[in-house]
Amino acid sequence: MSEAIAIEARGLTRRFGTYIAVNQLDLRIPRGVIYGFLGPNGSGKSTTIRLLTGLLTPNAGSVNVLGLQLPRQADALRRRIGYMTQKFSLYGDLTLAENLAFIARIYGLPHAEVKHRSDELLDRYDLTRQRKQLADTLSGGQRQRLALACATLHQPELLFLDEPTSAVDPENRRDFWEKLFDLCDGGTTILVSTHYMDEAERCHYLAILETGIKRADGTPQDLMRNMGATVVEVLGPNLRKLKQELLQLAGVRSVAQLGEQLRVLVNAQSGDPVAWLRAHSSLGASAHQLALVRPSLEDVFVTCTSNSFNNSFNNPVNTPANTPAINPTHNTTRPG
Ligand SMILES: Nc1ncnc2c1ncn2[C@@H]1O[C@H](COP(=O)(O)OP(=O)(O)O)[C@@H](O)[C@H]1O
Ligand SMILES: [Mg+2]
Repeated sequence: MSEAIAIEARGLTRRFGTYIAVNQLDLRIPRGVIYGFLGPNGSGKSTTIRLLTGLLTPNAGSVNVLGLQLPRQADALRRRIGYMTQKFSLYGDLTLAENLAFIARIYGLPHAEVKHRSDELLDRYDLTRQRKQLADTLSGGQRQRLALACATLHQPELLFLDEPTSAVDPENRRDFWEKLFDLCDGGTTILVSTHYMDEAERCHYLAILETGIKRADGTPQDLMRNMGATVVEVLGPNLRKLKQELLQLAGVRSVAQLGEQLRVLVNAQSGDPVAWLRAHSSLGASAHQLALVRPSLEDVFVTCTSNSFNNSFNNPVNTPANTPAINPTHNTTRPG
């Protein structure tokens, strides 16, 4: 495996009984980037992370992480990675400083280094003032920053973050991402799972997962450029009825209402999508305004997962109010 590759997986598969949670996954993740797993609940994000950390054994496929073959060399890998689990549990009845000291001991950090490194991390994550506070008394944002401090205490080359910001408000999430870019800038490779579109858009690369299958991967820009559908915004009256009409058209992949607009995904092979929509629907004789707009990552998501899109989302997750998450309450998609 090349030095420039942090993670390479081929045909990675994990079953639970007869259920296939991760299905023939191929991954190639360069060093020094932030790589995202985007997918709804149950799409296999956590299971994949557990496979890539060596905590879980695959049923099939090969995994190489930082040049080590898993699961055979999982012990050697452990010291070189950091892992913030989805339900990361800090020790609520220990202070922040005690939490860090405890984790330092688990990682076998030399005693002389512990205080220096803890102070450095408390400072970096704006927690110095709270150092003697019990972890249970922290706010959501502070907890996540302490969790990140614990996961990076031993300066891992590769950091796994499983939905690190799902209980954090938008402002703290933005700050958290700034810290991730700082870590990345210092050479750490980061693999982060999320169900938030705006987070996925911040990643250098991402893979879209659904029912354990990788539906697409690449940079967010490439995914938007190559999604095989164009987006038309329709402004005007009677949108509920219009939506039902447009969904009947074979060239229309999905229609979503956003306030006073419809966002219509039209298959790329339909030519000029605005002219095509006018020619094939009542929009030809109406005063609605139509405009071709730039695709978003959410459009990419709808396009590459539309076969089982609605079925995948029957399990709403906690979502900060002003953040687009994968939770398409207004979306309707056609079978692909
Ligand atoms: N230990 C397990 N035993 C049985 N089923 C599991 C286990 N872990 C995960 N699964 C199932 O595998 C699927 C993928 O789960 P998971 O990887 O946690 O998805 P995500 O992290 O994307 O929400 C889910 O249907 C889940 O119920
Ligand atoms: Mg998960």
